[in-house]
Amino acid sequence: MRILIRKNNEAVGQSAAQLMSPFINRGATLGLATGSTPLSTYAELIRLNQDAEISFQQCQAFLLDEYVGISRTDPNSYYQTIRDTLTSHIDIADDRVFSPAGDHGDSFAAAQAYENQVSGAGVDIQILGIGANGHIGFNEPSSSLSGLTKVQALHPKTVADNARFFASENEVPTHAITQGLGTISRAKNILLLAVGESKAQAIAQAVEGPVSASCPASILQMHPAVTVIIDEAAASRLDNVEYYRHVEQANLNE
Ligand code: PGA
Repeated sequence: MRILIRKNNEAVGQSAAQLMSPFINRGATLGLATGSTPLSTYAELIRLNQDAEISFQQCQAFLLDEYVGISRTDPNSYYQTIRDTLTSHIDIADDRVFSPAGDHGDSFAAAQAYENQVSGAGVDIQILGIGANGHIGFNEPSSSLSGLTKVQALHPKTVADNARFFASENEVPTHAITQGLGTISRAKNILLLAVGESKAQAIAQAVEGPVSASCPASILQMHPAVTVIIDEAAASRLDNVEYYRHVEQANLNE
């Protein structure tokens, strides 16, 4: 793993966007994540696109997950969320942005279809946030470390947290379709992003802890091309911070 520690959220976004830019200009297949963490990266990618430094015209993009029972056009869908925060602001066609079919009558069939679609395309670079409990996508602790795209029951806390976005409690999705850890691990390159003290423990476990389903992100230790980009607060529980800084500096000076 390559560990890059940055001063703040904005600097995390700049570094992530810089790493993604050559892939984007080559027309890569991108793996996108929703959530608050990638927003600084997306803001920087939008800026680079508007300044004509990068173009997404030849890219296609795959989302990590989608709620079950929610259509793509629903404002609460992850598809709309990624449109609002990234894809409607850049030069990528809507029909080149893919997400699991949350409103499919048979969620298990939709999960299998999405698995086939993602693995057929082959993600060149996947961007990931991490949950405070170490989850990536909706792969909560105890998820199979080699699992494929699946229907996942959401943690009651996640359901409760999401209630504020919905008109009534019975509209809140209780399940999601998520790429599995095995699916995510097939991406050729992975960027794991985290900002803030609330992610420090999860980052320490993911980077320096044992590979274990109790911290799903720890599976990334098995992947040959992972870059972890975090701010000082998210790095605050790592044991080997000075070494990571040294490695980055040494590589820069090569
Ligand atoms: P966040 O979520 O980026 O909104 O913190 C990350 C996650 O839970 O995967």
